[in-house]
Amino acid sequence: MLIRDKIAVVTGAASGIGNAVAQRLIAAGAKQVGIVDLTDAVHGAADQINKAQGKQVARAFQGDVTDSDFRAQVFQTLGEDSPVQLCVPAAGILRDAMAVKLNKSTGEAELYDQDLFRQVLEVNLMHPVYWTMQMIAGIAEYRAKTGAGKWSAEEDFQGSSVIIGSVSSRGNRGQVSYSSAKSGLNAAAKTLNVEGSFYGIQTKVIHPGFVQTPMVEQLPDGLFEEHLRKLVPIDRLIQPEEIANTVAAMIENPIISGPVWADGGLPPMT
Ligand SMILES: NC(=O)c1ccc[n+]([C@@H]2O[C@H](COP(=O)([O-])OP(=O)(O)OC[C@H]3O[C@@H](n4cnc5c(N)ncnc54)[C@H](O)[C@@H]3O)[C@@H](O)[C@H]2O)c1
Repeated sequence: MLIRDKIAVVTGAASGIGNAVAQRLIAAGAKQVGIVDLTDAVHGAADQINKAQGKQVARAFQGDVTDSDFRAQVFQTLGEDSPVQLCVPAAGILRDAMAVKLNKSTGEAELYDQDLFRQVLEVNLMHPVYWTMQMIAGIAEYRAKTGAGKWSAEEDFQGSSVIIGSVSSRGNRGQVSYSSAKSGLNAAAKTLNVEGSFYGIQTKVIHPGFVQTPMVEQLPDGLFEEHLRKLVPIDRLIQPEEIANTVAAMIENPIISGPVWADGGLPPMT
């Protein structure tokens, strides 16, 4: 699908992978990109892009991606004239802890906090699915309104969502909530892909390995350099721009169905 002249929405775009993706879509000619994030850094991120471009192409939206009213408002604002056709839900959180932890002094075993598990599922699984569904809904309504009906292969693709998963979707010690959420994205994306094909909309997942972003900087000091680096055949951290380039290729190339492993060759860690 062509990126040029499309309206896009990227969540988690104040930082890391989301920010690199927003910039990449603009470089490929996207008409407007909604830059969505929880933090007020989202305004600076949009300003920076607009300054560099010399035009108002990035539009900041500060809010929580798990809030359905906020989501509807973002799509309504961006899709006033024509629908949002590109969606990259990249917002994500880590809340790592062992699934079951034995307290050696009391002898009691504690389970991973249930509220935290729900929060991780909401942000890392439900949000990408619902933001993608909101895009599909907008395109479906637009096609109904304009009498376009069922998509045909003579048209270009009408929409694309590339969801940011993780290599942790293969399961990983200490990440029971995060790996469950990221793994669930595979089945959700396949489902949305097959349902969305009626309207010419593709949904795919990319699973990055260790990417140099604030999320990886949260890892304990020295963990990557001393323990993890030797597991990565490319022998370095992946750069956010490399993930952004892969996301753009996944949008542009309809025969890539995903999931795509963008992990530098990292084997399963469990
Ligand atoms: N960095 C890595 O090594 C790596 C590896 C695999 C997958 N990922 C995934 O890539 C995506 C981007 O991660 P990153 O490394 O760029 O992290 P990051 O921490 O730099 O960026 C994540 C952004 O998401 C935003 N965010 C979090 N919760 C939100 C919410 N409820 N509403 C709105 N915004 C919210 C944060 O404010 C932040 O700006 C995440 O989904 C992450 O799970 C990252």
